[in-house]
Amino acid sequence: MGNDSGRGTIVYRNDLLGYHMSIGLEREDIMCQESYNDKVLAEIVVNEKIADRVYRMVFREKQIAEEARAGQFINVYCKAESRILPRPISICEVDRENGLVTIVYMIVGMGTKEFSELKTGDKVEVLGPLGNGFTLRDCEDNVIVGGGVGAPPLLEVVKRLPGKKRVFLGFRSGAFLVDEFRKYAEVYVATDDGSVGDKGTVVDLMRKVGVKSGNIYSCGPKPMLAAVQDMAEELGINAQISLEERMGCGIGACVGCICKIKADNEVGYTYKKVCKDGPIFDAKEVMFE
Ligand SMILES: Cc1cc2nc3c(=O)[nH]c(=O)nc-3n(C[C@H](O)[C@H](O)[C@H](O)COP(=O)(O)OP(=O)(O)OC[C@H]3O[C@@H](n4cnc5c(N)ncnc54)[C@H](O)[C@@H]3O)c2cc1C
Ligand code: FES
Repeated sequence: MGNDSGRGTIVYRNDLLGYHMSIGLEREDIMCQESYNDKVLAEIVVNEKIADRVYRMVFREKQIAEEARAGQFINVYCKAESRILPRPISICEVDRENGLVTIVYMIVGMGTKEFSELKTGDKVEVLGPLGNGFTLRDCEDNVIVGGGVGAPPLLEVVKRLPGKKRVFLGFRSGAFLVDEFRKYAEVYVATDDGSVGDKGTVVDLMRKVGVKSGNIYSCGPKPMLAAVQDMAEELGINAQISLEERMGCGIGACVGCICKIKADNEVGYTYKKVCKDGPIFDAKEVMFE
């Protein structure tokens, strides 16, 4: 399958999408395609509801637990044959010693509804870890900013980061994972309706508490990430943001997840794949449009 000389046209069977494709791919794409074959059946240890429509699933998968970097994600596959595309879900926590991986997901459609019905002892098909992960920097003032189901991947970030850590979490209504974050850092919470913590946006709360320096690590909805980007630019500080795009393959083969990234060329931008070049990007590079 494929050629060994970098970019070129190859023909391969894309089992994921169920049809033959002839497409120009880079060598890494071919490797990604091969890694697709490494999807594994993992045993579910816990699958519990932790908030309205939000579930925490822990499964046993030694290799993912060993290899995962904070900010990476996995593809989770449905059993229903009508839902062939995997669902990308971020890795929330790993327990390397016991080979356990935790994800936290919200029911938004049929795929995540199916996951919520799985029980302890059931098996779930997964592939990963995928994506690039955050670059963790040793810093005096680490600022971690999560919104809704963007909060889960930041738990592993907080666990692994050295130095002082402040966590800002924003939700529409209610909150989850707050106690877990509190084990490792000072935590500030904001909700749109004021039901938990401050009423308003998490970025308003960051301004109120006083973020002036350091490194920002952020994951959440686009408007929140755009506000984090503005704030980082204003303060002249570094920020990494985790983008979310609808995904087909999750492994760099379908070009279904592109985002616009600034580039030094005649048009001033290029496109990158969130699943493979990301999901983490330097906030300075990202064009939200
Ligand atoms: C890198 C990444 C990490 C993510 N991490 C989490 C997480 O930790 N927790 C969590 O609750 N959700 C997360 N999501 C969103 C999650 O993938 C979607 O909510 C889920 O795929 C929806 O599937 P569904 O079948 O329930 O919904 P449906 O709407 O029925 O999905 C239909 C199709 O659209 C895709 N899709 C739908 N919404 C999204 C979305 N927002 N992003 C990407 N694909 C989507 C699905 O993969 C599927 O192919 C993440 C998305 C990405 C891209
Ligand atoms: S989802 Fe297929 S290339 Fe990113």
